[in-house]
Amino acid sequence: MGYGADPLPCVEKLAERGARLVAGNHEYGTTGRLDLRWFNPYARAAALWTASVLDDAHREFLAGLPLVLEVEDATLVHASPHNPDEWDYLITAEEGFDVFSAFTTRLCFVGHSHHPGVWSVGSSGPEFNPEPETVRVGAGRRYIINVGSVGQPRDGDPRACYALWDLEVGEVSLHRVPYDVSAAREKILKAGLPRYLGDRLLDGR
Ligand SMILES: [Fe+2]
Repeated sequence: MGYGADPLPCVEKLAERGARLVAGNHEYGTTGRLDLRWFNPYARAAALWTASVLDDAHREFLAGLPLVLEVEDATLVHASPHNPDEWDYLITAEEGFDVFSAFTTRLCFVGHSHHPGVWSVGSSGPEFNPEPETVRVGAGRRYIINVGSVGQPRDGDPRACYALWDLEVGEVSLHRVPYDVSAAREKILKAGLPRYLGDRLLDGR
């Protein structure tokens, strides 16, 4: 949430489903828990606009989200399991390998960079895959999985990106789904949000 023109329906859909959610920097920014001086001008404009359209119920819902959550054998955190409120980006192989000691579960799901990626460590050594499709959760290995971004992918593929974790099969699969990018862009322009936020959806950058 935080860049598009439909924050209220997004919050409602997730709340209806009882989704297990963690807050990111945009949820912090729009609910007064993070100073917007830390945001770039586009993100700041979007955060101010989003804050202006939230009513009390939506604001309270977002303000109540935890920063870190454990679900089954996974840690959920928006940016990094190490100092999660510092909003560090995990992009390179080393940046991921460095933070395995910051969580104790087998898996850790992150977002924030808007780039999908999988880091894993175990007896056969560390591995980093910046273009993951299916991850077979292997015995004795631990994983950090960036699930990419539904609303604003930045890896050059404009399709929405998400991950599915199948606990029974022991697999995490990453998926891309085309959607009406032009309509999302039009809504952003119509809402008076920065044009750049609409345009960047077209090429997923
Ligand atoms: Fe973020």
